[in-house]
Amino acid sequence: MVVGSVLVTGGTGYIGSFTALALLEADYKVVIVDNLYNSSKEVLNRIELICGKKPDFYEADVCDEAALDKIFAEHPDIDSVIHFGALKAVGESGEIPLEYYRVNVGGSISLLQSMTKHNVSNIVFSSSATVYGDATRFPNMIPIPEHCPIGPTNPYGRTKSTVEGIITDHIEAQRNNATKKGEAGGEKWNAALLRYFNPSGAHPSGIMGENPLGVPYNLLPLLAQVAIGKREKLLVFGGDYESKDGTAIRDYIHVLDLAQGHLVALNYLRTNTPGVKAWNLGSGRGSTVFEMIKAFNAVVGRELPYQVSPRRPGDVLDLTANPTLANQELNWKTKLTLEDACADLWKWTENNPEGYNQEPPKEFVEALKKEA
Ligand SMILES: NC(=O)c1ccc[n+]([C@@H]2O[C@H](COP(=O)([O-])OP(=O)(O)OC[C@H]3O[C@@H](n4cnc5c(N)ncnc54)[C@H](O)[C@@H]3O)[C@@H](O)[C@H]2O)c1
Repeated sequence: MVVGSVLVTGGTGYIGSFTALALLEADYKVVIVDNLYNSSKEVLNRIELICGKKPDFYEADVCDEAALDKIFAEHPDIDSVIHFGALKAVGESGEIPLEYYRVNVGGSISLLQSMTKHNVSNIVFSSSATVYGDATRFPNMIPIPEHCPIGPTNPYGRTKSTVEGIITDHIEAQRNNATKKGEAGGEKWNAALLRYFNPSGAHPSGIMGENPLGVPYNLLPLLAQVAIGKREKLLVFGGDYESKDGTAIRDYIHVLDLAQGHLVALNYLRTNTPGVKAWNLGSGRGSTVFEMIKAFNAVVGRELPYQVSPRRPGDVLDLTANPTLANQELNWKTKLTLEDACADLWKWTENNPEGYNQEPPKEFVEALKKEA
């Protein structure tokens, strides 16, 4: 039985692919749109190996409204979109901000326009803890609640807060316009703004994980590359923050928990029709960079080399979530720990040093078949 049909933009990417898997496992039909800018189609086979179902796939750009129109026309059963497709490197966003605005903001407008034409009324948006900027500028805002004022410190974060605003205005307008016209059903327009903290980890089977096409941007994948000898050492950006060991504090959330967060947020929109809601998806546990290096060293079984270098512009001291709202309203909380994330990431990287450019380890595929 299919419970609903969802378009997933950026669905061959890291978080999108895990969310597509969670949706299929929950009996949603999944249609992926991705231009493969930072991902590989091979992930579709891995999803199928794990759950026995494969998402539909279209290679298309989210900025291409005509292409989106065609896809929605071919799938009139789709009533919801989960929107991941975006550029996401904070540093790069300071070098080519217009490209970030074109893809992240322009792409979201094309998508909303096409959704509206086709009466697709629910959107779950990949936002980021980056929208809060430096929450330590206010008293009592760590861990960060959703009502912490928005104040991104880099162009990437500003694209995310801009899209949050655009989605909010659009959904409210659709509801108000329906009321003004005396039409029933305005409440079908809903949005979830999901502010992720630091997604990490891989599938415990060892056949699916993060597979960035260029240099990874996040701490754990970089550490994993040091561990397999692809990188000489880890650069730790900033050793002079006001934390217990001088390094920045982040909240690491296992990608499987994050994927479940999307599923429950989508279900909440479709069942409760709340209008626009923002939810933090994080664990509530903050860890310093040095603590993460220690945790990853423990799963690898040796000390990995690192070097402390100057802070990066736009980085902040502490991004730790207060996830109480998601815990209460969505009945969602993280089940896996950062130690699980480290172990799963290491299993994935150690056994698949070339990511999706190599065959998955045979014994892992056999183990999956036995489980099924
Ligand atoms: N990974 C993180 O640390 C993190 C944290 C907070 C928010 N996010 C957001 O979550 C979303 C997914 O991130 P991810 O880590 O999975 O990144 P990712 O790069 O693995 O996934 C993004 C996907 O979008 C696709 N894409 C890029 N431009 C596109 C376009 N113009 N048209 C269609 N597809 C396009 C890429 O090919 C890729 O498959 C992004 O919106 C990102 O900003 C990520």
